[in-house]
Amino acid sequence: MARTFNIVCIPGDGIGVDITEAAVQVLTTLEKTFGTFNFKFDTLDWSSKKYRERGYYAPEGGIEALKKYDAIYFGAVGWPDVPDHISLWQMILPIRTTLNQYANVRPTRILPGTVSPLSGCAADPSALDWVIVRENSEGEYSGHGGVTPSSAHAAHTVATEVSIFTRAGIERIFRFAFETALTRPRKLLTMVTKSNAQRHGMVLWDAIFYEVAKEYEGRVKYDKMLVDAMTVRMVMRPQSLDTIVATNLHADILSDLAAALSGSIGIAPSSNLDPTREFPSMFEPIHGSAPDIAGQGIANPIGAFWSAAEMVRWLAGADGASNSEGIVQGGGVGNMVQAADCLMQAIANVTEKGVKTRDLGGQSGTKAVTDAVCEEIGNVY
Ligand code: NAI
Ligand code: MG
Repeated sequence: MARTFNIVCIPGDGIGVDITEAAVQVLTTLEKTFGTFNFKFDTLDWSSKKYRERGYYAPEGGIEALKKYDAIYFGAVGWPDVPDHISLWQMILPIRTTLNQYANVRPTRILPGTVSPLSGCAADPSALDWVIVRENSEGEYSGHGGVTPSSAHAAHTVATEVSIFTRAGIERIFRFAFETALTRPRKLLTMVTKSNAQRHGMVLWDAIFYEVAKEYEGRVKYDKMLVDAMTVRMVMRPQSLDTIVATNLHADILSDLAAALSGSIGIAPSSNLDPTREFPSMFEPIHGSAPDIAGQGIANPIGAFWSAAEMVRWLAGADGASNSEGIVQGGGVGNMVQAADCLMQAIANVTEKGVKTRDLGGQSGTKAVTDAVCEEIGNVY
C-alpha cells in the first residue's frame, strides 16, 4: 500500500505563492507516476498581508502545530511594507529553532542548458558541484543582544549582536557535515571559519572540527578556509570544493554566491533538517519573495522543484530507513529516492531543451516550465 505523507505548505508572499503552487503540481504528478507514495497537502496563509491585517504571521500555537506534519514546504516570506527582521524573526527563525532544524543543506550545480558566469565552467560544468551545510540554530543569528533604549542620547546609541557558539551545536553540525561528505563522490569536506579575527567562538568552532574529524579519518578528506579566502576559491577553483560546512552567517552569504555562480538564484534549493527526525523538516528555495517580479508569472520554479526533490529524498528516509544523522541509505521508503532522482532528471532535461525562465536567459513563464517538467517526469519514469 502507498505510504501517505502529510505536507503543510506555507506559500508566504510574492513569488513564494506562485512557486509553491508549481511545486505542488510537480509533486502531485510525481506521486501519480510512481503510485508508491501519496501527499496530502494543507496550506497555511502566514503572509505579510495577513500580518498587516491581524498583527501576526503564525497564530498562537501555530508553530507547535506544525509538529503533526511529516514535512513543511515553504515558499518565501517578506514584503516591502513589513520590516524584514519582523518576517524573519516571527516566522522562519522560530520554525527552524522550535522544530530543531539545525542543519541547513544547500546543494549547487550547473544544470544542463544553463550558463555559469564562471568562464572556466563553460568547458566543464561538472567543475561546480557543491553541497553547503549551514549551521542553522545558533552562531551569528542567535538573536542575543540589544540596543540602548535612550533616544535622548541618540549620538551615543550602542547596539550589540552577540554570536552564540555551543559545543553541542558545533559538534552536531560537523558530524552531519562529515556524514554528508561520505555520501558524495569526492568525499571532501571544507570547513569555513574566521578564527584569525574572531578569537573565541570561531576558535572553539575550529577545535571541535578537528575533534570530530578524527572519527572520519581515512574516510573523508578535509581542509579549512578563512571565509574571505573562501570566496576567492569558489570563484577561481570551483573544482577543488565538494562539501562545505560553515556558520549560520557565513553559509548564508556563501550560498547566495554559490547560487549566482551556478547561473541564477532562482534554481537553488535549501533543506532545513532535523537530523534526529523527531520533528518535521522544512524545504524551501533559497530566494525570497522577489517583489520586483511578483505577479508577472515569470518566476523561475526550478529552485522550488529542486527543494521538492530534496523533500522527497528526505522522506525516503522515514520509517527507520536512515542513519543516525537522518541521511537516507539505499532506496528508502516507497521508491522515493528513485522518485527524487526522476524529478531531478526531468528538471535537467527541461533546462537542456531550453525551456527556461528569463533569469536563465530563456523566454518561458513559470507555468510553461512547470508543465514541461510534469510532462518530462512521465518520460524519465
Ligand atoms: P530575492 O531573492 O527575493 O530577489 C533577489 C533578486 O533575484 C530579484 O531581482 C529577484 O527578481 C530575483 N529572483 C529571486 N528569485 C527568483 C526566481 N525564482 N526567478 C527569477 N528571479 C528571481 O531577494 P530580496 O530582493 O533581497 O528580498 C525580497 C524579500 O524576500 C525581502 O522581504 C526578504 O526579506 C525576503 N527574503 C525571504 C527569504 C525567505 O523567505 N527564506 C529569503 C530571502 C529573502
Ligand atoms: Mg540568504
